[in-house]
Amino acid sequence: MNQPSLASMTSDTWMPDSWHRRTALQQPHYENADELAAACRALAQLPPLVTSWEVLGLKQMLAEAQVGQRFLLQGGECAESFADCQSPVISNRLKVLLQMSLVLVHGLQKPIIRVGRFAGQYAKPRSSDTETRDGVSLPSFRGDLVNGPEFTAAARRADPQRMLQAHAHSALTMNFVRALVDDGFADLRHPEYWNLAWVERSPLAAEYRQMVRAIGDSLRFMEMLAGPIGGFNKADFFTSHEALLLDYEQALTRQIPRHPGWFNLSTHFPWIGMRTAALDGAHVEYFRGIRNPIAVKIGPSVTPQALLPLIDVLNAEDEPGRLTLIHRMGHARIGTALPPLLAAVKREGRRVLWVADPMHGNTESTSSGRKTRRFDNIRAELDQALDIHAAEGTRLGGVHLELTGEDVTECMGGARDLSESDLDRAYKSMVDPRLNYEQSLELAMLIVRKSRGKAGAMPHGLTRGS
Ligand code: PEP
Ligand code: CO
Repeated sequence: MNQPSLASMTSDTWMPDSWHRRTALQQPHYENADELAAACRALAQLPPLVTSWEVLGLKQMLAEAQVGQRFLLQGGECAESFADCQSPVISNRLKVLLQMSLVLVHGLQKPIIRVGRFAGQYAKPRSSDTETRDGVSLPSFRGDLVNGPEFTAAARRADPQRMLQAHAHSALTMNFVRALVDDGFADLRHPEYWNLAWVERSPLAAEYRQMVRAIGDSLRFMEMLAGPIGGFNKADFFTSHEALLLDYEQALTRQIPRHPGWFNLSTHFPWIGMRTAALDGAHVEYFRGIRNPIAVKIGPSVTPQALLPLIDVLNAEDEPGRLTLIHRMGHARIGTALPPLLAAVKREGRRVLWVADPMHGNTESTSSGRKTRRFDNIRAELDQALDIHAAEGTRLGGVHLELTGEDVTECMGGARDLSESDLDRAYKSMVDPRLNYEQSLELAMLIVRKSRGKAGAMPHGLTRGS
């Protein structure tokens, strides 16, 4: 492919629909253009899901993370589903993220920016447009935003009405999350509110409880000296999703009185997936014009020559907090793929937040064809990411994880050393395998341990069944 010149990429006027001038990968085929247009018009009338001041507040926090004053924890489902828009699923996911952020805040001694992959993570890129079973081919499942997972022609039809349902489910999720974190649920004095039932049985429980006790002691000590301290009963939570389906994103792109420019108000922090990050593609065109903080997934095939023009287009003004690069290289390739990128960005003096996604480069299939990830590989990638940034003089400012608060067995290994046969027990993911609660906390503890220079053995050296 010929590289377009930077001038040609940015000279045309940007509008929320100017992405139509470029090739949009990973979009569904809607059979009826009128039906699509009607759904987009209806969506454009509905209230936004987030506000511009929240979006700008997050951008400021990400700017602070870029200079080492904060750390980003971004996590959640690979794909949310309408069926999982339920109280326990949402609150358990929140609990895991809160517990991880507690471990990180305590260990890193800096504020954590909490960003969920939720309230809108309903669209998925697929490796093939169609799926074939027993000689029957149907359109691939692209996430609940587009079609249904069942293998029938009716379910797999791309249905524009699903955009309206996704907006409603995002709003329901958001409403519950906002209510929970605003009213005591996230109170640092009462971490027992967000204990999951199986914490007690976890091999990590002792270390976790000790940390919680230490935080409680410090809080009580400070309040004894200074009186009640406000702000500990709340937690800020932001939302993010892969902004894949551009018709949906466009319909929620709005102008706001007193704030110049356009905001994507479907989420605080949209990202471009690895498969749709081409410099001359429709996604990059759409993203360059919105004022949100944005992220891009960077895989092992990205070269410095490809990355620098992408940064120029997406953050032409070198604005603080604007651009996050999420590297997802795989444990076997990060050692060769990441250092040249870090060196080039540092040499050019470009402002980015580097975040590690140790999940998506480490997906494999078991002998029975199930998608899984080995915890050791996830841990190894994160471990190397921390070392590589330290060696290059750059900063790893966050992590991006796929996790759930449910007691699933989807990734192998971890504190309970889950084996291939364990995967049958509780494998629920419709798309990528997620870390369960223990595996998530273990990663948070790894980050803390490494950052404090106490790398090495994990805390327990647990054996199966312990
Ligand atoms: C994802 O985050 O679920 C995903 C598809 O990631 P990537 O674009 O990095 O492959
Ligand atoms: Co995924």
